[in-house]
Amino acid sequence: MDITLEGRTAVVTGAAKGIGARIAVDLAAAGAAVVVNYRTDSAGADRVAKEITEAGGRAIPVRADVGRGEDVTALFTAARDAFGTVDVLVNNAGISVFAPIEAITEEEYRRHVDTNLWSTLLTTQALIGQPGLGAASIINVSTAGTTFHPPYAALYVATKAAVNAATLVAATELGPRGIRVNALLPGYSDTEGTRAMGFVGSPMADQAVSGVPLGRLGTPDDYGPLAVFLSSDAARFITGAVVHVSGGRR
Ligand SMILES: NC(=O)c1ccc[n+]([C@@H]2O[C@H](COP(=O)([O-])OP(=O)(O)OC[C@H]3O[C@@H](n4cnc5c(N)ncnc54)[C@H](OP(=O)(O)O)[C@@H]3O)[C@@H](O)[C@H]2O)c1
Repeated sequence: MDITLEGRTAVVTGAAKGIGARIAVDLAAAGAAVVVNYRTDSAGADRVAKEITEAGGRAIPVRADVGRGEDVTALFTAARDAFGTVDVLVNNAGISVFAPIEAITEEEYRRHVDTNLWSTLLTTQALIGQPGLGAASIINVSTAGTTFHPPYAALYVATKAAVNAATLVAATELGPRGIRVNALLPGYSDTEGTRAMGFVGSPMADQAVSGVPLGRLGTPDDYGPLAVFLSSDAARFITGAVVHVSGGRR
């Protein structure tokens, strides 16, 4: 089977590091021109775009806070100006702050909703609003935690569960227009984000791994192959799928 993304234009949100960076590199290796979105980490986005172009691919870094409508509009304008109509969208940008329920603040609630949920609706609106758009693929990066419900993650898991639900609704609503919408659910993974929060190497990580049938944390390398497949014509009859990529933890 030949899986190619030649001729496609992809936007990957939060792609300066971690899972998003790897997905961006893998989409480009399959032939897509890739917009490497970042919010603050311009050096990371430059590195990812350089890795892609040095390997013979096409990529540009574009700054946008995907929780803000005007930024998302500018992101899609930049993408179209550089590479033409966007027909692959990977909603990877996300935040997670772990706290007991009594410590959750309204500010954190709004930040999680804007970054994890509202962003996916904004980018989906921008994608489907493009004149002349044909078939397209949207992948929403959620979390396997939406089916195993870890403690101290109420805001994170609730907003990602809403992403799963929005994925299913969008798949139904946009299917007649040839737009497929699927969700990718990573398990606990070793990324810049989970290192920065002190998770990797902690007793909590050991406990998390003990519940994973395949016996390890995920790595960014584990997620690109499914993103490439779901973006390609090989997945042309797949929409509304909510796929665990979590070593069997669910
Ligand atoms: N790592 C895990 O264990 C795990 C498990 C399940 C699900 N996930 C999900 O997988 C995705 C990637 O996780 P990760 O661990 O690779 O993340 P990460 O290392 O923390 O990187 C997150 C990226 O999201 C970007 N971002 C955050 N808010 C943004 C915004 N408002 N606009 C644009 N970009 C924004 C950050 O950009 P800047 O650095 O430029 O600010 C950063 O590059 C997230 O959706 C996460 O919830 C991760």
